[in-house]
Amino acid sequence: MKIKAVKVISFSPTGGSRKVAETIAKGIQAPIEYVDLTPPSARTENFPKFTDELAIISVPVYAGRVPTEAAYRIRRLTSNREPYGAKRPHKIPTVIVVTYGNRAYEDALYELGDIVSEVGFQPIAAGVFLCEHSFSVPEVPTAHGRPDTKDLAKAEAFGKQVRAKYAKTDTIENLSPVTPPGTSPYSLSMKANLTWYDYSELATPYTNEDQCTKCRSCVDVCPTAAIRIQHVSSNPSPMIGYNLRLISTDHNACIWCCACVKNCPTGARVMSRRILKSQSDLNKGYSDRKEPETYI
Ligand SMILES: Cc1cc2nc3c(=O)[nH]c(=O)nc-3n(C[C@H](O)[C@H](O)[C@H](O)COP(=O)(O)O)c2cc1C
Repeated sequence: MKIKAVKVISFSPTGGSRKVAETIAKGIQAPIEYVDLTPPSARTENFPKFTDELAIISVPVYAGRVPTEAAYRIRRLTSNREPYGAKRPHKIPTVIVVTYGNRAYEDALYELGDIVSEVGFQPIAAGVFLCEHSFSVPEVPTAHGRPDTKDLAKAEAFGKQVRAKYAKTDTIENLSPVTPPGTSPYSLSMKANLTWYDYSELATPYTNEDQCTKCRSCVDVCPTAAIRIQHVSSNPSPMIGYNLRLISTDHNACIWCCACVKNCPTGARVMSRRILKSQSDLNKGYSDRKEPETYI
């Protein structure tokens, strides 16, 4: 059976998960369409209908799990698409992918399999890839520079294996499902370490206003619309007030993805001290190189 098209679907605030999915698609060698679950609009938009294409769904691992925001957006992919009670002719064959920052992926791949299966997808291949940790900074790196050429060669080779799996099968219904490693109830091992969840405002990145040019890069890349440029008309002084603009961040909406920090052209947007402390722990405890895993 030939693969008619591949839909690359990713939630990828700092771009790693998308890059891996795109490279797998390259190995599959079929026309590619993109569905971006990253911008805030993915919370409300109507996604295009699925027909006979193969889906690749990729997300990062957050605290050993699928990020809540990614799970919500994936569950919307097929909603409102079929008339109530209508049956789709077959489940949508899917390659599920998680990326992680060299600590651990725990049950995230297994959880992603469950989430996609709930809404009409069927995992037929699964992959775990390494990407630079979202908290990584050049001075104190974790998985810095990954995915590198070796990782991407593995991603492309994995895509070729998916293509071969299709070539050996006559109908979509006959593609064998894959069961990713992991268990349910899902691991909560990070929960014990993260007493600082209670102080989430301490983890949110912030802006050094004197270095900030208000270029909006942080506003544009924020997946949850947590950042805005606030016009201050009368504070701190009515005399300078008319032109004063400050960056304000909604601590409750921020998911700590650090896309704002990584995309700031002047270095004005920085990680909080709490994240930098956690980054230094990651750098000390998780510096041994881990390798991608694939299941088909
Ligand atoms: C809030 C948060 C929690 C994270 N938790 C983990 C984790 O448990 N294990 C790990 O190895 N990496 C963890 N990471 C790192 C990301 O999984 C990794 O950088 C990912 O590849 C980023 O994907 P993206 O570039 O598509 O956004 C975490 C990152 C963030 C922002």
